[in-house]
Amino acid sequence: MPSFRSLDDADVKGKRVLVRVDLNVPMAGGKVADATRIAEVAPTIADLAARGGKVILISHFGRPKGGPDPKYSLKPVAAEVARIVKRPVAFAPDCVGPVAQKAVAAMKAGDILCLENTRFHPEEENNDKAFARKLAALGDIFVEEAFSAAHREHASIAGIVTVSNLPAYPGYAMRAELAALARAFEHPEHPVAAIVGGAKISTKLELLGHLLAKVETLIIGGGMANTFLAAQGCAIGKSLCEPDLIANARDILAKAKAAKRDIVLPVDAVVAQKLAAHVPTRVVDVGHVGRDDMILDIGPRSIEHVVSVLGRSKTLVWNGPFGAFEVEPFDNGTVEVAEAVAELTAAGRLVSFAGGGDTVAALNAAGVMGRLTHVSTAGGAFLESLEGKTLPGVKVLLLPETSAALRG
Ligand code: 3PG
Ligand code: MG
Repeated sequence: MPSFRSLDDADVKGKRVLVRVDLNVPMAGGKVADATRIAEVAPTIADLAARGGKVILISHFGRPKGGPDPKYSLKPVAAEVARIVKRPVAFAPDCVGPVAQKAVAAMKAGDILCLENTRFHPEEENNDKAFARKLAALGDIFVEEAFSAAHREHASIAGIVTVSNLPAYPGYAMRAELAALARAFEHPEHPVAAIVGGAKISTKLELLGHLLAKVETLIIGGGMANTFLAAQGCAIGKSLCEPDLIANARDILAKAKAAKRDIVLPVDAVVAQKLAAHVPTRVVDVGHVGRDDMILDIGPRSIEHVVSVLGRSKTLVWNGPFGAFEVEPFDNGTVEVAEAVAELTAAGRLVSFAGGGDTVAALNAAGVMGRLTHVSTAGGAFLESLEGKTLPGVKVLLLPETSAALRG
């Protein structure tokens, strides 16, 4: 079991606490359009300030090209942090150098300061050591609270710890993510099922491989299921398919069989002639998809099958929707399964973990977001964790005895 420092035990009073958050939030008209990421880390910020820490927020924002760009200033985001945390948040227009040093020197216990976008310096993404040292010099303690950016080996995420002697702590939201991952993969209650959906296998080959070693049942949905159906010789009409990956799909099916793992594929489908809202649809068995049909969702028998598998499982890991959920009525399969997952979870029969951008959107649309055991709003970082990788931003938090064990 990897072990981490506990922020509960840290003496932060009067200390400069560098908190790496992910303030990379969607904007519209110069305002924060979705504050979910801020809300997730707000308790950590408020707690550290209440305990007398000098809280210094560092984050990237967008993908500016190699220098300062007003479009990617964190200033309006800092104002939103202040609104959510219900405390004043000062702003420094640079994250290193005299501007940042002066702003930090002026802080009193309990103050909160947000530094400008780390990506205004190209050294950030190069994980430059000298730049990482400058960031580290601004603090006495480091708190990693940016799970959704922890797959980036950047200066403010990785280098800042490796080049310095800063004690590094996972923030509370980070700790919840790590605990959920451990509960799903290190000491899960068996049987474990995984749902992998979404459009493409190409982005999820590593994930499928890793999951096959970890779970009893792998449920495949979304556009990627079509490639598996094609690999089994089913006609799929005009459905989304990756012909180049049919061989990979066959290989995964063969490996699952050899390892005695179950792969659950759709047995029926909702088809239409085109992907548009409320077009005429039909339900057909997977053997009967017409030449002009597009598979756009799983059918009722498939839903029933998936729900029965989940009823026999104790743990679920879910990434990716079943159908073209953004377009009605092709959200039906995802919504019905999501409701069943929420009910099984509420009944104490299933420990349920889900994550990824599309998955969160689908769970939100299904109205079950708060009813799963844990939902990760991270995209790439969640996916890479599911692939079994130790993320750069997590690696730097591991206590020495654990990192030695990982090195073997
Ligand atoms: C995200 O929004 O996915 C994270 O903040 C990482 O951002 P990036 O993909 O630009 O590195
Ligand atoms: Mg991204």
